[in-house]
Formats: sequence, structure tokens, C-alpha cells
Amino acid sequence: MTTTTALVVPRHGGPEVLTLEEREVPSPGPGEALVEVAAAGVNFIDAYQREGIYPTDPPYVQGFEAAGTVREVGEGAAVTVGDRVAWSMTLGLHAGMVLADSRALLPVPDGVDLETAAAATLQGMTAHALVTDVHRVEEGTVALVHAAAGGVGQLLTQMIVNRGGHVVATAGSHAKLEIARSRGAAETIDYAETEDLAGAVREAAERLGAKGVDVAYDGVGKATFDDSLASLRPRGTMVLFGGASGQVPPFDLQRLNSGGSLFVTRPSLAHFIAEREELMLRGRELFDDIDAGRVDVAIGGRYPFAEAAEAYRALEGRQSTGKLLLIP
Ligand SMILES: NC(=O)c1ccc[n+]([C@@H]2O[C@H](COP(=O)([O-])OP(=O)(O)OC[C@H]3O[C@@H](n4cnc5c(N)ncnc54)[C@H](OP(=O)(O)O)[C@@H]3O)[C@@H](O)[C@H]2O)c1
Repeated sequence: MTTTTALVVPRHGGPEVLTLEEREVPSPGPGEALVEVAAAGVNFIDAYQREGIYPTDPPYVQGFEAAGTVREVGEGAAVTVGDRVAWSMTLGLHAGMVLADSRALLPVPDGVDLETAAAATLQGMTAHALVTDVHRVEEGTVALVHAAAGGVGQLLTQMIVNRGGHVVATAGSHAKLEIARSRGAAETIDYAETEDLAGAVREAAERLGAKGVDVAYDGVGKATFDDSLASLRPRGTMVLFGGASGQVPPFDLQRLNSGGSLFVTRPSLAHFIAEREELMLRGRELFDDIDAGRVDVAIGGRYPFAEAAEAYRALEGRQSTGKLLLIP
């Protein structure tokens, strides 16, 4: 029996529960491919699941993002042996060898290395969906981006700026604000030092010629939701796409009326790549942008599987910038 190392969540809890286990390497069935993982992405969704916020019963192999090389294929697979591929949003990708539905695998162009692909697939397709189909960013759109030095934040900021939009960025330190500026943010706010965050965002928007932001992209959640809502112009859109600081409690819909006929949405990438055609299009546009140098992917740290807990402590403890990777 051939085995592979996998990162297992044996019970709900903090990063300390993560355990390395040897698991049997399965053979690909019809339509499947066996992929040797070169690098895997560290994401908040792994933490939400591990803590039991998103329901998944332990024990399970964790991980929602990886890139690697196809080593074996089953009958009728959509890829061939030797293909370089990346994928996301299916559970169990944090292992040395992973069995995949070959139709979920994105081809990685020659100009993009596998670490970059692993770093960009989930957060990059999320950012792509946020600026295209969740709220279309156009020339002159004024957007609020929280945690702009983070993984999604840096990619999102670049994609907004590439579409002619203006970014009001927030982050928790001066060093992080510097990163946001280097990604093209027009205005930056240290929310750790700002008492009236909505007031500061509205002032920044005014300097950009807007009466409030057109769209607030908020992945911080509980700590920023109220200020994000209060930063919007009338008929602006609140995009709550995560809860790094905690989940937002239920709120009174009447606030959308008094706030100026506001829109609110809570998107998940899963619903924006559910159809293969859309997945392939999103992946291709993302990798084309990276290949052409229009979007730069910042890798903030690489950790061996054995040190995965450290990677999650850094992400969940606001210590990271850009993307953290696990190397099998
Ligand atoms: N909806 C989707 O499909 C989807 C897909 C991918 C990611 N997401 C969401 O996007 C958000 C960002 O994900 P990411 O992987 O790119 O993470 P990240 O932004 O690299 O890291 C999270 C950042 O949030 C900020 N933050 C503020 N308060 C925090 C707190 N109490 N605890 C931890 N962090 C806090 C920190 O930046 P500062 O120090 O600058 O405050 C921290 O660095 C997460 O909410 C994630 O769930 C959603």
C-alpha cells in the first residue's frame, strides 16, 4: 500500500488540534486524477471549519486549495499525466497526493509557478468574483477594502485599480498600509487607530469625489460591519464576504432603508464557480492577469505540513500579509 501524508482535523478546536497522518493513496476512477501537491493554500475557511463555525464532522483531511502535477488519471479524465493544475473549494486538499474530480482542475499556464498558483486560486477567484459578478467595478468606482494587506485584500485592491476603480483601504498597522498603497490604494486608514472609521472612510471618499463609497468589500466582519454600512453612498452595496474578526450577528433590515436604500450581499466563491464554464473562465482570467504581470501574488510565508499550526496562528492572529502556503 502506498501512503501519503495528510493534515487531519481529529476534533474541533484551535490550530493545536492539527495532526499529521499517513493515508492510503487511492487510484483514480473514471473522470478522476491523482495529483501530487506542490503547495497548498492556508485559508480562513479551514479555520472556520476546524472551529466548527462551518459544520464539518471530524475527523477529516482539511484544506480547500492546492496546486500540483497530475501523476495518474482514470478513464475519460479531463486532464493528462504531467499537467500542472490548481483547484479549490473541495475539501481534503492538504495532503501530499490528492484524488481530484478532473473537471474541477484548472490548467496552470507555463508562466505561472505552482506556488503562485496555489497562493492565488481561492483568494484570486474570490477577488475576481467580487469585482465582476458580485458588484461590477467600473472606471471611477470608489470601493472600500478592509484588511487590504491580506491575501484577498492585496488581490482585490489590484483588480479594482486595474478596472479604473479607486480604493479606500484599511489595515491594522502602518507597515500594512504601506503594502496597500503599493497595490494602488488611493487612500489608506489604520482602523486600529481610528475612532470614527465610517467618518474617516467618508472623508477619504469625498477626497475622491464621492459622497460615500459605492461598494464596501468587508471580509473582517463583526468588527467592521457597522462602519462599512455607514460608509456607503445612498444605494451603495455592502459585500460581506467573511468574518476574520467574527461572524456578524443578525441585524435589522430597516437599517438598509434609513442608510439610503442600501444593498447587502453575503457571497461565497462556491456559488461563483459552480458551473465548469464559469470556473474555467474565472481561472483563466485570473492566471492570465498573473502571467501578464497585471496582478502580483504576494507569498507571505511557507510552512512545512508539520508546522501548519504556526501558519494558522499567524493568519488568525493578524500576523500575516499576503498568502501563507503549506508545503507537503
Ligand atoms: N466568501 C468567500 O468565498 C471567501 C473566500 C476567501 C476568503 N474569504 C474571506 O476573506 C477574508 C480574508 O481572508 P484572507 O485569507 O485573505 O485573510 P487575510 O486578509 O490575509 O487575513 C485576515 C486579516 O483580517 C484582519 N483582521 C481584522 N480583525 C481581525 C481579527 N480579529 N482576527 C483576525 N484577523 C483580523 C487582519 O488584517 P489587519 O491586521 O490589517 O487588520 C488580518 O490580517 C476572510 O474573512 C475570509 O473568510 C471569503
